[in-house]
Amino acid sequence: MRRTIVTGGAGFIGSHTCVELLAAGIEPVIVDDLRNSEERVLEGLEKITGRKPVIHRIDCTDAQALNKVFAAERPDSVIHFAADKAVGESVRDPLKYYHNNIGSLATLLRTMAKHGIKDIVFSSSCTVYGEGDKLPVTEDSRTGAAASPYGYTKVVCEQMLRDASAADADLCVVMLRYFNPIGAHPSAHIGELPIGVPNNLVPFITQAAAGLRDKLTVFGNDYPTRDGSCIRDYIHVVDLAKAHVLALQWIAKQNAPLCEVFNLGTGQGNTVLEAVHTFEEVNGVKVPFVIGPRRPGDVVAMYADTAKSLKVLGWRTERTLADSMRDAWRWQQALGK
Ligand code: NAD
Ligand code: WQD
Repeated sequence: MRRTIVTGGAGFIGSHTCVELLAAGIEPVIVDDLRNSEERVLEGLEKITGRKPVIHRIDCTDAQALNKVFAAERPDSVIHFAADKAVGESVRDPLKYYHNNIGSLATLLRTMAKHGIKDIVFSSSCTVYGEGDKLPVTEDSRTGAAASPYGYTKVVCEQMLRDASAADADLCVVMLRYFNPIGAHPSAHIGELPIGVPNNLVPFITQAAAGLRDKLTVFGNDYPTRDGSCIRDYIHVVDLAKAHVLALQWIAKQNAPLCEVFNLGTGQGNTVLEAVHTFEEVNGVKVPFVIGPRRPGDVVAMYADTAKSLKVLGWRTERTLADSMRDAWRWQQALGK
């Protein structure tokens, strides 16, 4: 069985990707120190897949520890999810973000080189587009003007990968720019685990619906959109996870060095109010909300052109916003807190 190192494999997107890798006959070897995830994710993975996940609880910026893992596991490829991802925290503590997000990728690339591993899939983000020079954004749209230190770490990591690829004639790099990943596994055994008060919309919706938060604040209804609230491209995490498998399989088929970037979104923009109402309709639950001021740093609208992902990877989303909202609610109920 082919094996892939999955850094951050106990996290939200990484855990769902582990499920899809196994389903495709690729063994995930998780590298995660659980700094932003919990033991229960491993239990959930075992329930879904019937296999005990292989995990090495190390920090990816620790070169010696990573070297040992590569020596012991002898992987064929790497998927690199591990990173800190809270936009607001990155403004308050930027060095934490530059150290972890850039340091872990640099350490990983050197370790891969040492062990002759050539294939890497990297988690990037639509945040690299900043405001977006046109909508929908294509992979060729301008990047570089991110709105936060977190966003800049993704800009720098993408450049690091391009430079590493230019210097190493054998490297195969796929960078995946995720739009807004939401939802959970339909089994409700794994999902998102926001720590403290959620920053992101959907965990806040589910917690407000569950009575764990007083009410959701919709950040602004005076934007130039169809109902005044911001537009985003919300993508079901299982659809997103499947793209990673296709990316690895595509790399293997090319049999040549490459460095490519793909948008992973639905191609559809939805407003915040549409997201709230879809949640209410599909689950038959009310979401208490008020309209508040705009949140600094929010872009008005962002959604993906997905033509390249379809044409090259053969990837398209299969789940709707309603599916995402149903699964997010099932997960919230399974969490029971
Ligand atoms: P997550 O926090 O749920 O998962 C990240 C995992 O990495 C966690 O389990 C954490 O414990 C681990 N980790 C972090 N730093 C580590 C280190 N140095 N060593 C070992 N483990 C470490 O986040 P996620 O939502 O699953 O995001 C995964 C990736 O996708 C990240 O790179 C993130 O920046 C990117 N991304 C996420 C979103 C989103 O909205 N969730 C959008 C775009 C891009
Ligand atoms: C979505 C919409 C808010 C919370 C972030 C990162 C981005 C990427 C994806 C990693 C916005 C509105 C939110 C609330 C609200 N992550 N909202 N009330 O900001 O699009 O993107 O996650 O790479 O880099 O910035 O996602 O879920 O925070 O917000 O009205 O309590 O919901 O204003 O329009 P965002 P989000």
